[in-house]
Amino acid sequence: MLAGCEDDSIAYDDNSGASLPVVFVHGFPHDRTLWAPQTAALAGQARCLALDLPGFGESTLGGGRDGATSVDHYADAVVCVLDAAMVERAVVVGLSMGGYIAFALWRRHRDRVRALVLVSTRATPDSDEVRAKRAALIDTAHRDGSGAVADTQIVGALSRRTRENKPDLVRTVHAMQAGASVPGIVGALGAMIARPDSTPDLATITVPTLVMAGRDDVLIRPNEARAMQQAVPGSRIEILGEAGHLCNVESPTAFNDALGDFLTSIAAA
Ligand code: MLT
Repeated sequence: MLAGCEDDSIAYDDNSGASLPVVFVHGFPHDRTLWAPQTAALAGQARCLALDLPGFGESTLGGGRDGATSVDHYADAVVCVLDAAMVERAVVVGLSMGGYIAFALWRRHRDRVRALVLVSTRATPDSDEVRAKRAALIDTAHRDGSGAVADTQIVGALSRRTRENKPDLVRTVHAMQAGASVPGIVGALGAMIARPDSTPDLATITVPTLVMAGRDDVLIRPNEARAMQQAVPGSRIEILGEAGHLCNVESPTAFNDALGDFLTSIAAA
């Protein structure tokens, strides 16, 4: 399906299944197919909406923006999809950059957020060192294209165990990353560089919140996830074994069990 959102066109899937709406927000540099193991498994339990962020997958990043975007712009695109699907409030599941967008949603549109699932993400902004690495990756994207970006990103995206034992998954994720458009990549890197510190927002979160992390994530360590979770009142945490940054595809059964239990608790509340 396509939603017209200002000068972007946003592609999304909507299984129109059960009554509890859940919107899935992918990370960098991925697309909505990242959530295939969740939208298939949870279809009986939730109305799963999965979108491509502007500039990724089948979504466009409006020409008027000249490639520039922000976590606020992405958050507005999520709300545009909720509007198109006539969903008032949804459980927001955001992975990594998707989590940065979930924080922007909480700041800008909290009346649309029924609960939060913060996966492999952090509230803190980039350090100067990370900003410099992102600037170098922007150069790589312009010079060598998306395939070269995928070559650098795949290492942090999946744990060593996954990279050694699941070649099909490695190929699938690498192809997803290599399929991202250069303007999408450059836009997202700029958005992440400029994103604000979400740490002060953590104590303001009043909706049920689940934090999830992969035990072997080398990009965002489980102890960082734990510290973030402790700052969100009443939240819970699941650390998944045998999984790295993309824990939803590396350990899908454990991920879906934890998310399914959380959704059951939301539906019962
Ligand atoms: C992601 O998975 O979205 C990225 O690793 C986030 C980041 O680079 O900070």
